[in-house]
Amino acid sequence: MPIFPPTFQSDALPGRIAVVGAAGQLGRALVRRLGNRAIPVTRTALDITAGDAVRAAIADLQPDMVINCAAWTAVDAAEQDPQGCLAVNATAVGHLATACADHGVRFVQISTDYVFGADRARTTPYRESDVPGPLNAYGISKLAGEEAARACSDHVVIRTCGLYAASPEGPIRGRNFLDTMRVLATTKPEVRVVVDQVCTPSYVPHVAEGILRLLETGAIGTFQVVNEGQTSWYDLACELFQRAGIATRVIPIESSAYPSPVERPRYSVLDTSAFAATTRFRLPPWQAGVVDYLGEPSTRLTASPPPFPETIPCSPSS
Ligand SMILES: NC(=O)c1ccc[n+]([C@@H]2O[C@H](COP(=O)([O-])OP(=O)(O)OC[C@H]3O[C@@H](n4cnc5c(N)ncnc54)[C@H](OP(=O)(O)O)[C@@H]3O)[C@@H](O)[C@H]2O)c1
Repeated sequence: MPIFPPTFQSDALPGRIAVVGAAGQLGRALVRRLGNRAIPVTRTALDITAGDAVRAAIADLQPDMVINCAAWTAVDAAEQDPQGCLAVNATAVGHLATACADHGVRFVQISTDYVFGADRARTTPYRESDVPGPLNAYGISKLAGEEAARACSDHVVIRTCGLYAASPEGPIRGRNFLDTMRVLATTKPEVRVVVDQVCTPSYVPHVAEGILRLLETGAIGTFQVVNEGQTSWYDLACELFQRAGIATRVIPIESSAYPSPVERPRYSVLDTSAFAATTRFRLPPWQAGVVDYLGEPSTRLTASPPPFPETIPCSPSS
């Protein structure tokens, strides 16, 4: 089985694919990959929490498929405003799914490893069929979003994990874990990072390619698309600094030493065998994502990074 497909060029996908959340990390990558097949839909054009606007947009745009990458992704902030988070990650997904069902449009919802975690003794990858159990408001909202997506019978739910991408602006603190680490490394001799949270942080262009490969098969249902392997945030930071030639030391800490009001999964590795069996491809190992991220010209640092706390977020968003 090839480890990764050549650049996506398939004609198997329909011509008009609305990418909702087109200004986000994953949305941008999908729009770039899809080229002139994409209908990019940003929050400026459509606030998905407005049901009437969603129905009007699907009727006007007449897409063949909608991929919803829009989400409330701020995990800590979700705990402070769970209703606001649910409105975006669940109720609004219902608006999109229902509108798609009414117009015979395939609906694709992006979800997360954070639908798991309640099984605190877990040490083996979660399969799609495992019973979810989220630990925090963000995970609860995304699980409700998966349910809402099923209002459209022609749906695909795709779970992914720990997304990071290079952006044209260069690394920005809080955009993703790798960006944050690179910004911190400009002024800190050492950073402390949690070592007891294990998952598969994934490089957005790899995930985008995997999503499109999956969609071109016409499969429906729930799938998991992440890089291969598993790691802790501590080991990811070590790999990043080593590959980037950064001298800043990485100190492993336990989650209990990290000042966050939100409990995060200790283990949320996603099994990708259903994706591999369906597409006959596997994404590259997570280390290859770090290499490719660093290879992007835009991973240069901004001239004046904003202030930041001593202890970095273990996962600024998920
Ligand atoms: N980031 C991760 O580590 C991670 C991990 C696992 C799964 N996921 C899932 O993967 C998907 C993509 O994540 P991402 O990292 O690309 O997210 P992102 O960069 O935070 O982008 C999310 C986008 O959603 C838009 N949005 C938020 N509220 C909206 C609303 N009410 N109406 C319309 N658009 C709205 C945002 O608009 P603005 O640009 O205006 O803010 C933003 O462009 C999400 O479903 C997320 O839950 C992410």
